[in-house]
Amino acid sequence: MSKILVLGSCGQIGTELVLALRAKFGNTAVVAADLRDECPIILNNGPYIKLDALDKENVRAYIIEQDIKEVYLLAALLSATAEKNPDFAWKLNMEGLFTILDLAKEGQLQKIFWPSSIAVFGPTTPADQTPQHTVMEPTTVYGISKQAGERWCEYYHNKFGVDVRSIRYPGLISYKSLPGGGTTDYAVDIFYKAKAEGKFTCFLSQDTMLPMMFMDDAIRATIELMEAPAEQIKIRSAYNLAGCSFTPAELAKEIQVLQPNFTIDYAPDFRQAIADSWPNSIDDSAAQKDWSWKAQFDTKAMVKVMLENVQ
Ligand code: NAD
Ligand code: SER
Repeated sequence: MSKILVLGSCGQIGTELVLALRAKFGNTAVVAADLRDECPIILNNGPYIKLDALDKENVRAYIIEQDIKEVYLLAALLSATAEKNPDFAWKLNMEGLFTILDLAKEGQLQKIFWPSSIAVFGPTTPADQTPQHTVMEPTTVYGISKQAGERWCEYYHNKFGVDVRSIRYPGLISYKSLPGGGTTDYAVDIFYKAKAEGKFTCFLSQDTMLPMMFMDDAIRATIELMEAPAEQIKIRSAYNLAGCSFTPAELAKEIQVLQPNFTIDYAPDFRQAIADSWPNSIDDSAAQKDWSWKAQFDTKAMVKVMLENVQ
């Protein structure tokens, strides 16, 4: 079994992805890498290395020395954090990608996973059942970096045969790891506040509908996409992926079914404008057709698991 590197492994997706890949391929086959000096306890069942995605020479040296063949590149600034630091967001979100794409172009890496986002869409995109191929005029630095990244992934595939695969993740909802500065983070925070205080103040307005997905579906999609035969992967920018769509008010209502005393109020901040520029729901028929994708968690099922598991 050749070695896999997950760069940006200590975040919301990385934590669960490393555990899932280790369960599948063996603990020693999957190296977790992030900026932290120490490996977080949850990931100490396998190798960990401190690695800065922006330290091109070190990343190259490690991947070549260890003969890594597959990389999941997760290090990035998310939408809300990126708006506060646009220069650095552009640098981090783009430079690390080129380092990894070039290693694949040189033949060192056989396969790359790099995540895109619903943030590639903008206010001029059809908001309902957003098609795979449509108008894309993102208005956030995060969305612009993801759209540019998609274009480069497709370019490296077409020009150099690089086997790079990507998903436009919706907002992801998880209980094993916390979200890291996105506009959809409210849909995780709400469960912690519901359990701890029975009430939540939402930074988006009550009727802001966004595409979301439970983390188990997102991890399964990632692994299924990476395992699909190359000839089935017709889209080398990034695949649309749909889980469930809801507004904060609808989510609160589902929580109240299981926790009737829960209350919510609203205090929209700068993230409202970001959310307003994103779709309500996503058409993922291309992923369904090409690699048989199907989501398993609807809002009700996700709410039940979250309320049972958040600490
Ligand atoms: P996160 O912020 O939770 O985790 C990112 C991880 O990268 C953190 O552990 C951080 O320490 C690490 N990191 C940051 N800079 C680094 C560097 N220079 N070198 C090495 N590691 C570094 O993010 P996430 O939610 O896990 O997202 C991972 C990827 O998925 C990102 O590209 C993000 O844009 C994308 N994505 C996430 C969501 C979501 O809802 N979580 C949705 C769409 C796309
Ligand atoms: N969940 C992410 C964010 O809100 C979407 O890419 O930034």
